[in-house]
Amino acid sequence: MDVFEALKARRSIRKYLDLPVEWDKVGSVLEAGRLAPSSGNLQSWKFIVIRDINKKKLIAEACAQQYWMEQAPVHIVIVGVFAKYQRFFGDRGKDLYVIQDCAIAATQMMLAAHALGLGSCFVSAINEDKIGEIILIRGGARPLGVLTLGYPAEQPKMPLRYRLENIAYLETDAGRAYVHGYGPGRIADLDDTFTNWRFAERGIKYVKEAAKDIDRATTEKRKGFLGKLMEKTKRKKPT
Ligand SMILES: Cc1cc2nc3c(=O)[nH]c(=O)nc-3n(C[C@H](O)[C@H](O)[C@H](O)COP(=O)(O)O)c2cc1C
Repeated sequence: MDVFEALKARRSIRKYLDLPVEWDKVGSVLEAGRLAPSSGNLQSWKFIVIRDINKKKLIAEACAQQYWMEQAPVHIVIVGVFAKYQRFFGDRGKDLYVIQDCAIAATQMMLAAHALGLGSCFVSAINEDKIGEIILIRGGARPLGVLTLGYPAEQPKMPLRYRLENIAYLETDAGRAYVHGYGPGRIADLDDTFTNWRFAERGIKYVKEAAKDIDRATTEKRKGFLGKLMEKTKRKKPT
């Protein structure tokens, strides 16, 4: 599957069919996590696969009572091993890198799941202590999220996303107005990209408006032409 196709079509799925997920597909999703980039390539994560219905119930309860999670045939608890990050990168490692690494691994897993025809949802609203007890977590680690996995029983529309020009800036954070101030040749390809993209998006609307203008102008011209002809005919009539 094309990457952009997957990026656009992946949705958070919260309703699942009562169908088991094939083991090889679970394996492929885990593999996508394994291949993720990580700070200093530490790969200090653990992916705990849960299929047991009682454990899933407890997990749903520990995720702010998100009971829809019970329906998913598989949960993958994403665990960050903090101790290692502290050792290698100090406080920034343990406060940030480990979380970023696990988030990226989870993203890769979600995209892989989508490419395999599976639905998934990343759940962060978790009670870490309770989840830790359920999976018998060991020292220096924290569960950071739970990924639900299964065949989707819903096809949600994409929730609204900001337009690119609302979130992308060039060179500085000062906004796009600044971009226009750049001299020729220095403006940004990015700016051109925005413009082209805008036109592409509005193209159909402009074509329709132009077609209406042409229609209007033609009708007026025709009226004028017919009017003149009628006047001529009137004038020619013998008195
Ligand atoms: C860090 C993170 C935490 C999330 N936690 C939850 C959650 O606890 N419960 C839930 O139903 N969805 C959760 N989601 C899913 C988001 O609600 C969802 O990604 C967002 O609404 C956009 O929808 P989409 O994934 O279909 O594009 C979480 C997503 C992320 C990235």
